[in-house]
Order: sequence, then C-alpha cells, then structure tokens
Amino acid sequence: MLIKELPLVEYLTGLDFTLPPLGKFLVLSAVRREGVLLGAYLNEGGKQKVVGLLALGFRKGANIEYLFVQDQFRRQGVGAALVAGAAAMARHKEASVLRARALMGDSFGAAFARILEQAGFEVCDRANLIRVPLDARSKETWEEFMRRRGSRICKRLRDDGYWVVSFAEAGGDVLQRFQEDWKLHFPTHLDPNTFLNNREHRAVLDYSFIALKGQEHAAYSLVTTIDDSTLSFQHLAASFKYQGLGAFLLPIVAFAEKATAEGRFKVFSAMIYERNERMNRLVEKFLRPFATAVTEQRFYLLHL
Ligand SMILES: CC(C)(COP(=O)(O)OP(=O)(O)OC[C@H]1O[C@@H](n2cnc3c(N)ncnc32)[C@H](O)[C@@H]1OP(=O)(O)O)[C@@H](O)C(=O)NCCC(=O)NCCS
Repeated sequence: MLIKELPLVEYLTGLDFTLPPLGKFLVLSAVRREGVLLGAYLNEGGKQKVVGLLALGFRKGANIEYLFVQDQFRRQGVGAALVAGAAAMARHKEASVLRARALMGDSFGAAFARILEQAGFEVCDRANLIRVPLDARSKETWEEFMRRRGSRICKRLRDDGYWVVSFAEAGGDVLQRFQEDWKLHFPTHLDPNTFLNNREHRAVLDYSFIALKGQEHAAYSLVTTIDDSTLSFQHLAASFKYQGLGAFLLPIVAFAEKATAEGRFKVFSAMIYERNERMNRLVEKFLRPFATAVTEQRFYLLHL
C-alpha cells in the first residue's frame, strides 16, 4: 500500500466510494483552508486504486480533519497507515504538533481513537457533545421549566433593567458597539467574529441573542448552522461585569422560545469542554433534561 497526496481532481472525479455528508463537508472545508488530502493506494491489476483518504488541515498547526477507509478495506491497517502518513506530512511541513479529535459515540470513533493512541497521540482535552431535538417533547419540557422557574427569573431580570435582542434585530449601533466591546468585556478565547464572518459555520442571526442591561452588553449567545436543519450552539458568554448574575439566561430563553415555537430546525447541539466547570453545572441544570445523546469528544495531540 502506498500513502501519497491525493490530488483534488482525483478526489472529485476518480473515487469508487462516496463519503458521508459530514465527511464531504470536513474534506472540502480542509481543502479550502489550504489543507492536503492523502490517499491510500492499493495496486489492483496494475492500476493504483484509492481505498481510503485523510484530510489534513493546517489551521493553527496541523490537524487531522477526517479519516475514511472504504468499507471492504477496513481493519487491515489502512487507517493507521494514513495517520502515520499525516504525521510524516505534518513533520515535512514543519508543524510542531499534530492534532485530531475522535467522537466516541460509535465504533468508528472508538477505532479512530485506538489508531491515534497506537500512533502515540495523547489526550489533551475532553468535551461532551450534547444533542437536543427541537420537537414537541422538548417544547413541553421547556414550557414546564418556564412555568416552574424560568418566567420568574426572567421577570426579575427585566425588572432590573435587562433586555434581550437578536443579532438580526439589533440596531446598527448595538451591533457595532458589541463588535468593538466584546474584546474588553468578554472572555477573549471566544471570538464572535469567527462565526459572524464564517461561510461554512454560518451564524443564524435571528437565533443568536444579546442581553443588555441598559446600554451595556451583559451576555450573548451565538448559534450557527452548516446545513440549515441543525443548529450548533457555539458561544454562550456573560461579560466579566455581569458574570454570576444570571444574565446568560436571557439569551437562552430567547433562543429556546424561538427554536421550540418555529420548528425551522430539527436539532441543536452544544459542545461543552470538561474543564469548563461552570458551564457544566449550567448544562446539568438546563440542558440535560432535554438531551437525547451525550457523546464524548476526545482531543488528541502528537508532538512531532
Ligand atoms: C475509523 C476507520 C477510518 C478505521 O480505518 P481502518 O483502516 O479500518 O483502521 P485500521 O485497520 O488501521 O485499524 C487500526 C486499529 O483500530 C481497530 N479497529 C478498526 N476498526 C474497528 C472497529 N470497527 N471496531 C473496533 N476496533 C476497530 C483495529 O482492530 C486496529 O487495532 P489493532 O491494530 O489493535 O487490531 C474506518 O472504520 C472508517 O472509515 N470509518 C468511517 C469513517 C469514520 O467514522 N472516521 C472517523 C472519524 S474522522
């Protein structure tokens, strides 16, 4: 078997297999950002045939974005060879680390994790991916929460001068100030501009909300979609001044009411890092009752 660069034209026209939709998305997304595709070639009747591929991205260091092996060639070491090829390519490009993440929800994720561990990768972070269907049951659970506690908390916040507006409805000045302000007032590792200007993970502006107290930004939420039917909760942040005061609840309430009332999206997901203790407590309280699946995500790192 030979591992070598798979030219984009060959990927687009010359493969005997098709990738699942998420695979296609991750491959194209890596290629668009100057990533490289590696192919696993087997000799068949004198011809080199591609039986697996790996997308290697170079965004903030080298990343394995996706790995796929054609069904009938699985469990023969092809995946492991592609990962070894990715490490060699990353070294060649003078990256100092290679990253990868495995979604542990199915046997493929577990196999991928095993391949990474056998190649010397170490776990550097963990997160839980929570999926919540936006269906009648969620709507009911949500309404029940609002009756029991939510409405009272929101009323108290409103009485204290808080209000909430979607990114879509916010006037130019609210948005402009937000874009100038967030760096000073919100945790800087969350950059809303990453999503406000993203062509793949497109911000859904009428489902993303800013909570203000008077004219000050107190909290915001930002959700995106890649396919117009599922939503990803990307950010939920309270500004330093308003942390611990419950302001974050207003964007959540606004989101949940819109999402459960409209039925435009079928499901939403949120990824919560294990080390983010405060967010995990929130999730336990507010999100767990709605979740249908919680999948562990492992972030791996290989020093080159
Ligand atoms: C995950 C995937 C890439 C593995 O490729 P592969 O060529 O079958 O992997 P390898 O043969 O190199 O296997 C490496 C190790 O994982 C194990 N493994 C592979 N598939 C497995 C499975 N389904 N269940 C359990 N272990 C598995 C192998 O036994 C081997 O371990 P060993 O050396 O101790 O025996 C392949 O199953 C696939 O394409 N899945 C669909 C796409 C996907 O989900 N990709 C992962 C997300 S990026």
